[in-house]
Amino acid sequence: MRRILITSGPTREYLDPVRFLTNASSGRMGAALAQAVLNQGDLPVIVSGSVEITYPDSAEIHWTETTEEMLQCCVELFPQCSGVIGAAAPCDFMPVMFSPQKLQKPADGSGITVAFRETPDILATLGQMKRQDQWSIGFALETAGVQNGGKEHALEKLQKKNCRLIVLNTPDSISKSRSTFQVFDAAGTLRLNFTGTKAALAEKLLSMSGK
Ligand code: C5P
Repeated sequence: MRRILITSGPTREYLDPVRFLTNASSGRMGAALAQAVLNQGDLPVIVSGSVEITYPDSAEIHWTETTEEMLQCCVELFPQCSGVIGAAAPCDFMPVMFSPQKLQKPADGSGITVAFRETPDILATLGQMKRQDQWSIGFALETAGVQNGGKEHALEKLQKKNCRLIVLNTPDSISKSRSTFQVFDAAGTLRLNFTGTKAALAEKLLSMSGK
């Protein structure tokens, strides 16, 4: 039984103990991938941010909050896995400053200004650690469709993250059970153009992963 690592859901980047930056990722793609991994007789090892959906019972689940925590967890688990699919939507930015005390509103009504810096890129880190016998697949959520530069953005990400395949989709797919997806390989070849459920995409992706 192979172990396949799946990152899933959003991350949270805290400003103070109660406030954080996050996004609307539901974890549905990660859950569909986990089920497809089980269907082929392998073990999904899910590293997830906070989500409301439930993952398949027999999946191995590791709960994380911040992008840094998700990264550390993945770095530890990846060497024992055959491959990784980056279905999470980690926050790309985190506040430069964390206030251990809850931030108070300034009395003069002037509000606050927050500076952000980039979070670590989990898939790019795993892409650098990857052995010859391991593979990785990324997702690129682009507001530009495939005809309007989305493909170029997706291929840049594939290269930067050293992935075998990248799945291009648009924000329409957030929280939905079905969407349109294009899958490209490292040569830029369109390997799949598919409209359907995340469950069906998950099955197709795994059959293309190269094991
Ligand atoms: O660069 P972008 O966030 O669009 O890339 C999306 C792909 O990279 C997804 O597969 C996502 O899971 C992964 N990613 C990551 N760590 C980040 C940001 C994105 O693993 N900090």
